[in-house]
Amino acid sequence: MAARYLKNQRMPAILMWQSMMISSENAGTRAISTSSARLLETVNSTPNLKMEEAETVEKPKERTRILVLGGNGFVGTHVCKEALERGLPVVSVSRSGRPRLTESWVNDVTWLRGSLFESEQWKDQLSEVTAVVSCVGGFGSNAQMRRINGDANIAAINAAAEKGVNRFVYISAADMGLPAFVLRGYYEGKQAAEDALRSKFPYSGVILRPGFIHGNRTVGSMTIPLSAVGTPLEVVMRHLKPATQLPLIGSLLIPPVKVTAVAKAAVRAAVDNAVPPGELDVWGIMRLGDRFTSTKFELRCKSTCS
Ligand SMILES: NC(=O)c1ccc[n+]([C@@H]2O[C@H](COP(=O)([O-])OP(=O)(O)OC[C@H]3O[C@@H](n4cnc5c(N)ncnc54)[C@H](OP(=O)(O)O)[C@@H]3O)[C@@H](O)[C@H]2O)c1
Repeated sequence: MAARYLKNQRMPAILMWQSMMISSENAGTRAISTSSARLLETVNSTPNLKMEEAETVEKPKERTRILVLGGNGFVGTHVCKEALERGLPVVSVSRSGRPRLTESWVNDVTWLRGSLFESEQWKDQLSEVTAVVSCVGGFGSNAQMRRINGDANIAAINAAAEKGVNRFVYISAADMGLPAFVLRGYYEGKQAAEDALRSKFPYSGVILRPGFIHGNRTVGSMTIPLSAVGTPLEVVMRHLKPATQLPLIGSLLIPPVKVTAVAKAAVRAAVDNAVPPGELDVWGIMRLGDRFTSTKFELRCKSTCS
C-alpha cells in the first residue's frame, strides 16, 4: 500500500503559535500544550480558528530502474543486457515488445509494447525511472526518417522531462560526410532530437554519436556476425583520428565501434552523474565504455531524484 504523507505540514506550527498567543492573553485556554488533544481543544474552543482537514498525497515512487526505448533492437538489447549485468532493473518500450531471443537475461527485463508517439501507453513508467536510454531510430523515406529519428524521440524527451527523469541518453549518429541528399531525413531527425535533448536536459542529456556499430545482429532466426568485418576495421581505423579531419574523405574514416562498447557507454552515461552532458563521438564512446569496469553499479541518484 502506498505510504501517505500529510500535506500542509505548516498547519501544526501555526496552530502551536496561535495557541501560545491565545494562552498568553488568557483567552480561554488552560495551558500551553504540545499534545494534539489539547491543541484540538484550543482550536475547537476558539472562535474563527478551524482545523483544516489534512489532504493526503501519494508518496513519490522510488526511481530505481532504467527505461530503454527500443530495447528489443540491435543496440537496445545490448543496452538492456549491460544494465542488468550492473544490477539495474530494466524496463523496455518498443512497438513489438519482447524480442524472440531465447537467452535467459530476456526474462529479467519488463517488456512493454507501445509507440513513442502514444506516450499515454507507457508514460507512467517514467515516474519510476531514474534515466532513459533511447535506441529508437530507423530508415525509410526522408519523411519517415525524420519522424522516427526526430519526432518520436522528441516526444519521449518531452515526456521524460515532464515526469522529472534525472538523465536522458540518446543514441544519435556520426555525420559520415555523405552528400546532402543521402539520408537527409535521417540526419535532420537526429539533429532535431539532439536539439530537443539539449534544451530539455541541458545538464544531464548525453548524446552518443557512433559511426557503424558492429556485433552480433539477430534478424529473425538468423544471427549476422557484423564483427567479422567491423573488428578488423575498428582495429585499424581507431588510430586514424587525425585523418578524419581531412576534407571530403575524413568522415569516411570514422572507425566502427562494437555494440557492447556503445551499450557500456550508454548505461554509464545514464547512471553516472559524473558523465557531463553533451555529445560523445566514437572515441569518447570507446573511452567511456572501456573505463566502465565490470563491477555492479549503484544508482547514485537513487536518493536525490525521487
Ligand atoms: N546500427 C548501427 O550501425 C547504427 C549506427 C549509428 C547510429 N545508430 C543508431 O542507434 C539506434 C539503434 O539502432 P539499431 O541498429 O539498434 O536499430 P534497430 O535494431 O532497428 O532498433 C530500433 C528500435 O526502435 C524501435 N522502434 C522503432 N519505432 C518505434 C516507435 N515508434 N516506438 C517505439 N519503438 C520504436 C524498434 O522496435 P519495434 O520495431 O518493436 O518498435 C527497435 O527496438 C538508432 O537510433 C540508430 O539510428 C545505429
